[in-house]
Amino acid sequence: MKTSSFTAIALCAALLVAGTTSALVTNDYFFSASYTVLQFVVLATAWNVLGGFTGYVNFGTAAFFALGAYSSIALDKLFEAPIALSILSGTAVAALVGLGMGYLTLRLRGVFFAIATLALAEVLFTFVVNWEYVGGARGAYVILQGRPPLGFRSFVQFLFAIMTLMAAGAVATARFVQTSTLGRGLAAIRDDEVAAECSGVPTLRLKLVSTTVSGGLMGMAGATFPYFLSYVEPHGVNSIAMPLIGGMHHWAGPVIGALLLGGLQQVLQVNVSADWNLFLVGALLVAKGVTKRFGGFVALGGVDLSVGAGERVGLIGPNGSGKSTLVNCIAGTVRGGGSIEFDGHDLGPLPPHRRIRLGIARSFQIPRPFSSMSVLDNLRIPLLYAARAHPLLQRSRGHETEEAMSILRQVGLETKAGRLSRELTQVDMRKLELSRAIASHPKLLVADEALAGLSAAEVDEILAILLEMKGRGVAVILIEHMMRAVLRFSERIAVLVVGRKIADGPPETVLRDPAVERAYLGQ
Ligand SMILES: Nc1ncnc2c1ncn2[C@@H]1O[C@H](COP(=O)(O)OP(=O)(O)OP(=O)(O)O)[C@@H](O)[C@H]1O
Ligand SMILES: [Mg+2]
Repeated sequence: MKTSSFTAIALCAALLVAGTTSALVTNDYFFSASYTVLQFVVLATAWNVLGGFTGYVNFGTAAFFALGAYSSIALDKLFEAPIALSILSGTAVAALVGLGMGYLTLRLRGVFFAIATLALAEVLFTFVVNWEYVGGARGAYVILQGRPPLGFRSFVQFLFAIMTLMAAGAVATARFVQTSTLGRGLAAIRDDEVAAECSGVPTLRLKLVSTTVSGGLMGMAGATFPYFLSYVEPHGVNSIAMPLIGGMHHWAGPVIGALLLGGLQQVLQVNVSADWNLFLVGALLVAKGVTKRFGGFVALGGVDLSVGAGERVGLIGPNGSGKSTLVNCIAGTVRGGGSIEFDGHDLGPLPPHRRIRLGIARSFQIPRPFSSMSVLDNLRIPLLYAARAHPLLQRSRGHETEEAMSILRQVGLETKAGRLSRELTQVDMRKLELSRAIASHPKLLVADEALAGLSAAEVDEILAILLEMKGRGVAVILIEHMMRAVLRFSERIAVLVVGRKIADGPPETVLRDPAVERAYLGQ
C-alpha cells in the first residue's frame, strides 16, 4: 500500500473511532484509560524508530516526553497557547533535542550510546526540576477552561480524540520510515554499520533523521499530558518493553506491544481488584474490611485500602468521615476490626512501636512534638528507636546527630535545630512532624493533614518535601482537604464518606465520579 493511502486510512480510522466512541460511550473512564493506552502506542512507536529500526537503544523516553509536556506548560504560562500550538512546539522542541542528541552521541555505538542517553535524560531532568518557571520539582499543571471544543462532552473525550489522531499519525510515520528507502538504510545500519557505510548509506545523516523523528514523536505524546492530567511532574515512562513484546523490526510491533501491555494494565486497574493490580506492581499495604466503632457509632464500616510500594495516594473525605481513624488503625494507635498487612507482615497484634519499625510512619493531624526537647532531639528519638530496628541500618551511637541534621537540611529546618520545638511556627511545626516521620526510615508515610492552616507558599514547600519522598521510594498517603494540593500530589485518590470508601482510582476519574460530587456538594 502506498504511504499516502495508508496515512489517509489511518487518520480516517482514527477520526471514525474518536467520533463513534464519543457518540456512544458516556463513561469518562473509558476515555481516560484509552488515552493512556494510545499514549503508550505513540511512545512505543517513537522509541522503535530509533531502537527497533536503527538498533540504537534510547533510555531517555521519559526525558523527551517531559520536554513535550513542559514546553506545553511554558507556553500556557506565557500566553495560554491553544493546544494545537502546544503540540507543534512540544514536537519541535523534542525533535530538536533529538537532533542534538544525535550529533553529540551517535558516534557512540551499542551500550555506550545507551549509557549516553541515560546521562542525557538525567541532565534534562535536572534542568526541568530546577526550572522554577514551570514548577520545578513540584511540577505544574494546565487547566482547560470553559466548554470542551468541537461539541465534545468532556475534555477527556476531546483529548482522547487528539491522542487517537496522534497515534494514527505516529504509526503512519513509522510505517513510512520502515517501508521507504530510509528504512532500508536504517535496517542496514542496524545489521552492520560499517558495511552500510561502505554500501553507500550516509549512516550519520540517516541516524540523525532517526533520532529527530523518534524524539519529536515522544515530545508530541508529552505535549498533551499536562492537559490530560491537569498536573505534570518529572516521572518515568517505560516504552522499551512494548516493542520488545510486539516485535522491533516492524511498525506494528510496538503498536501490538503497547495495546497488550497498556491495555492489560488499564483492564487490571478497572476490573481486577486493587489487590491484584498491586500484587503485580508490588503491594506494600493491604488493609481489608477495616472497621472501628466508638460505642454505638460506626466510624469505619469495613474499609479496604491498598498502597503500592512508592505510590502516592490521596485520601479525601468530608470532616468526620473516618480518615484519621483509618490512619490510627494503620499506625496501631487505635484497634479496629478487619485485617491489615504491611510488607508481608500481618499487623494484627503489633503495637505502634513495632509497626513503625516495619516502616509505617505517620504524622499527626495536630502536631505532637516532644515539647521539652530541641528540634534536633525530636529527630533523635525515632533515629534511636525506630530506624535502628532495621537490620541493615544498625549504626554505632553518635551518627544520629549527623543524620538528623541532614534530614533537617532537607526540610529547611537546619537553622532551627537547637530551638525548643514548642517555640516553632505553624509551618515549622509541620516540617518537624514530617522530618520526625522521615527519621524513622519509613516505607510508608501517612501524612494526616500535613498542610492544614498553611499559606499557599508554605503548602508548596511541604508538598515538595512529600514529592521528594517518592524519589526515595517511600509510599505516601496524604490526607488533605485542599483539592489543589491533593490533585497535584496524588497518583491515586481514595474517597471516604461516613466510614465507607466510595471511590478509589486515578484522580481524573475519581473527581468526575457523580457519587464523589454528591458527597462533596451534600456537605
Ligand atoms: N476517640 C473517639 N471517640 C469517639 N468518637 C470518635 C473518636 N475518634 C473519632 N471519633 C468520631 O469518629 C468519626 C470519624 O473521625 P475522624 O477523626 O476519623 O474523621 P476525619 O475524617 O479524620 O475528620 P477530619 O477531616 O475532621 O479530620 C467522627 O465522627 C468522630 O467524631
Ligand atoms: Mg482527621
